[in-house]
Amino acid sequence: MIQCLENKRVFHLQTQKTSMIIGVLESGHLACLYWGNKVSDHEFLYIIKDIKKGSYLSNTDEIDIFKLEQIPLLYPAYGNPDMRTPAYMFEYEDGSRISDFRYHDYCIYNGKKKLAGMPTVLSQEANVLELQLVDNVTQLYMTICFSVFEDYNAITQSIKIENRSQETIVIDKIMSSCWSFLSDQFHSLTLTGAWGRECHIHKQSLQQGLFVLDSKRGASGHGQNPFIALMDKDASEYYGNIYAMNFVYSGNFEIDIEVDMHQNTRLMMGINSFDFKWNLQSSESFETPEVVMIHSGQGLHEMTNRYHHLYVDCLMQSAFAKKERPILINNWEATYFDFNKDKIMNIVDAASHIGIELFVLDDGWYGLRNDDKSSLGDWYANEDKLGGTLAKLADEVNQRGLKFGLWIEPEMVSPNSNLYRNHPEWIIRVPKRVPQQARYQYVLDLTQTKVQDYIIDTISTIIDNAHIEYIKWDMNRNITDIGSLNLPSYQQKEVSHRYILGLYRILETITNKYKHVLFEGCAGGGGRTDPGILYYMPQIWVSDDSEAIDRLDIQRGNSLVYPQVSMGCHVSSSPNHQNGRKTSLNTRGIVAMEGNFGYELDLSKLNCEEIDEMKEQVSFYKQYRKTLQFGELFILLDSENEKAWMKILGDEIIVSYIKILTHTNIVPKRLKLKGLENESLYCIDEMKSIHKGNVLMNIGLDLLKPDGDFFSQQWVLHKIVEK
Ligand code: DGJ
Repeated sequence: MIQCLENKRVFHLQTQKTSMIIGVLESGHLACLYWGNKVSDHEFLYIIKDIKKGSYLSNTDEIDIFKLEQIPLLYPAYGNPDMRTPAYMFEYEDGSRISDFRYHDYCIYNGKKKLAGMPTVLSQEANVLELQLVDNVTQLYMTICFSVFEDYNAITQSIKIENRSQETIVIDKIMSSCWSFLSDQFHSLTLTGAWGRECHIHKQSLQQGLFVLDSKRGASGHGQNPFIALMDKDASEYYGNIYAMNFVYSGNFEIDIEVDMHQNTRLMMGINSFDFKWNLQSSESFETPEVVMIHSGQGLHEMTNRYHHLYVDCLMQSAFAKKERPILINNWEATYFDFNKDKIMNIVDAASHIGIELFVLDDGWYGLRNDDKSSLGDWYANEDKLGGTLAKLADEVNQRGLKFGLWIEPEMVSPNSNLYRNHPEWIIRVPKRVPQQARYQYVLDLTQTKVQDYIIDTISTIIDNAHIEYIKWDMNRNITDIGSLNLPSYQQKEVSHRYILGLYRILETITNKYKHVLFEGCAGGGGRTDPGILYYMPQIWVSDDSEAIDRLDIQRGNSLVYPQVSMGCHVSSSPNHQNGRKTSLNTRGIVAMEGNFGYELDLSKLNCEEIDEMKEQVSFYKQYRKTLQFGELFILLDSENEKAWMKILGDEIIVSYIKILTHTNIVPKRLKLKGLENESLYCIDEMKSIHKGNVLMNIGLDLLKPDGDFFSQQWVLHKIVEK
């Protein structure tokens, strides 16, 4: 719900449990009055009047109480007495960079509109507030758009600029979201890391000054996720205020946190202003991607829960969003490039025996691709390797009772490929310089419509000619040599954003055309894990590190924001190929069941005991799949050495526990559960014991003595429902 108060000078955006309040000051500036647990009152503008100002900077507009530098501005400009980092910067034809937008009008309506050409969180039930501002000197109009998802306790924010002047303006910076807090008493929580250790949770105390977390890689990147949370200093998993932002965008992003000299904090998120410029001609408009803002008054758990629900219901557009996902076997770590039809069919036969539901043929099936040095772009099957056409292989896999899936890396081209020989002008590069390779490949210039059309046609031909029900869409390098041979010099700084818009056009077309195909995103693992990708592809291979113990932190960070069903998690071989660690099949299984379960090892080389154990894992996962993929996630333990989590869906509960290193003479403690009903009875593991919810949450489950490092335990509980 959106209320207009105080003579239409205050807008109160209400979800079921939260309030966001925005004020229009006498001067026409917009101010952040409040964001947090729900409040109910009719007056809020006093919050600004009550600010005890200590600044010696001059007043603005000669309004005595008005000292912009200490006002929690909603979308601050450059060039006025607020000397903090602005949310936007425009350059005008006369060389000036000063803007002055003031409140003009508002409008409220129901039903969220899709952002043109960009992924959007959508719901017909969302209430939308558009605040319109105008800069009278330049005749630019700005719309700050908020959409309130009441039942999900979430609000999205984006910005639109319309150029109603006669001149071209250059946008140097345009954040999608900005919120100002009258406090600096926060910790920041970011999801950072690198290839193979994506999305590790990192917390730090805020300091005076500007902290920037960004990506300049052409994708959201392995090293930093487009997510930020500010937490009260005493906030934890189940306690305290959390203010979170997550960017629905897959390219270069920027998060700015600025703590000023008056102990206030400004938090912003948007397209990276580094190496960005956008030329906005007269009568054109520019829309930013959107940010999803979630406040939780009860710690990280509630924030996680809100993101999960919103993303499954309103972000993921795939027909598979709410469907149970198949258990897959991928041949990458089983064979790498070294396979032939026999090897593939041996794996498929074993998978069929175990009960696996989908076979994914990874890299190496096309052109002359026997290593990573050639053939990207030559997307026709290597029939010698496959023993026939792709269609025939898919049919044979189907005959064994499995669906057939295929890996592809459509945004790339190898220098050693027919595609590159025919179209050297189709890659991202700058004139006169030799383009740099990474993994022996170039990036296709997705700013060019003909390149986009080529990719759409190529993928369509592949899907039209074989019974393919799953696509793994990979992207294995960062974008260097940023430039397009197709754009004039003054538009070269538009390339990174235009690349992402091109990618979104391709994804929109392909995923709409092939709704029966389940798409999984991948970028060398988790190099492009973000809500933008989830809009099109409802699952993502979150890391190339498939090892269970390393995966604990990777999956913990991912699942803090992204639904578990979206996280591809595979059991791979032991010793593991990335780090050499040896872990039991049981531990590998329990960790992979935290998300969207699959296998990635040579099943044809396993012994009978391993096959039997996998059969049990597969049938267990099928039986409890709904809870494992869609249950509410509760974190029970998250210390360096012990991890435990549980999932609840209806009356069913699955609890998982991992102890990383065992220590002599350390007595196992009990594991206390969360989220149960105090007075209800729960039976544990097929009636081995029955306890009340309050007992399980306060006294807990019995933990076994570890029989070695990387020990794991799992329980199934059912609430006893009286009939
Ligand atoms: C990187 C991916 O993350 C891997 O899973 C695999 O598909 C390789 N690319 C193939 O080249």
